[in-house]
Amino acid sequence: MRVVITGASRGIGLEFTRRYLEGGHRVFALARSPLKSAGLTELFSRHPGTLLRVDCDVGEDASVSQACGSVQGATEAVDRLLNNAGTYGPDDDRLERLDFAEMRRVFEVNTFGPLRVSREFLALLKKGAGPALVHITSLMGSLEDNRSGGKWSYRMSKAALNMAARNLALELSGDRIISVVLHPGWVRTDMGGRNAPLSVQDSVSAMMQTIERLTLDESGGFYDRHGQPVPW
Ligand SMILES: NC(=O)c1ccc[n+]([C@@H]2O[C@H](COP(=O)([O-])OP(=O)(O)OC[C@H]3O[C@@H](n4cnc5c(N)ncnc54)[C@H](OP(=O)(O)O)[C@@H]3O)[C@@H](O)[C@H]2O)c1
Repeated sequence: MRVVITGASRGIGLEFTRRYLEGGHRVFALARSPLKSAGLTELFSRHPGTLLRVDCDVGEDASVSQACGSVQGATEAVDRLLNNAGTYGPDDDRLERLDFAEMRRVFEVNTFGPLRVSREFLALLKKGAGPALVHITSLMGSLEDNRSGGKWSYRMSKAALNMAARNLALELSGDRIISVVLHPGWVRTDMGGRNAPLSVQDSVSAMMQTIERLTLDESGGFYDRHGQPVPW
C-alpha cells in the first residue's frame, strides 16, 4: 500500500509510520521539519527505499500543495491518507479567556488542515486501491460526551472536523473513497501526557486493525480505536 501520514514527526503519527513501514508498505511521512525528527531519521536508516520524508505544514496552503507535488513525483496513487497532525491549542477553559486569533490557528491545523490535505491528495486517492481517508479526531470533539466543558478551541475544531469527515464521506461515496474519524483513546504522547493510560503502540495497533477492516458501509462514521461507534 501507499500511505500518506501527516504529523509524522512524533507521537501517534510516527508510530503509524513505523508500523506501516514494518508491514512492508510505502510511507510518505509528512511533517513540518521531517529531517529534524529523530524518530523519522531512525526509521529512514532502516527503510530508505520505502520511506519518503516530505515537508508539510498542514496549516499552510502552499506547504500542503508543495508536499502533494513531491508525493506525486514519487507515486501514481495513494491508498491510505491519515490526517493525524493536530494541536491541543491554548488553555481556553473559560469564555472570558478566549483568544480568537489563537482559536483560528487551532482551526487552521485541526479542521482546515485535514480538509486542505484531503482536497490536495484527492486525485491520488481516486487512483488508489480501496482508498480510505482517516482523520484522527478526539472524543473531546463529541457533543454528547462533553460534560465538563472547557478546551474550547480543541473541542470545537475537532467537532468541526467530524462534520467535515461526514461531508467528505457523502461527497466521495461515488468515488468509493472511505472517510471516517477515529478517536485514538487517551495516549501517552507529548499531547496526551505521561498519565495517559494507553501506550502509543497499543493505540496504533488497534487503529490499524480498525482501518484495515473498514468498509464503504462504515464511511461517514465516528469510531473508537477498536471500531466501535462513538456518539457524535
Ligand atoms: N494523545 C492523545 O491522547 C490524543 C487523544 C485524542 C486525539 N488525539 C489526536 O491524535 C493526533 C496525534 O496526536 P499526538 O498525541 O501524537 O500529539 P503530539 O505528540 O503532540 O504530536 C502532534 C503531531 O502533529 C504535528 N503537527 C502539529 N501542528 C502541525 C502543523 N501545523 N503541520 C503539520 N504537523 C503538525 C506535530 O508536528 P511537530 O513535531 O512539527 O510539532 C506532531 O507530529 C492529533 O490529531 C490529536 O488531536 C490524541
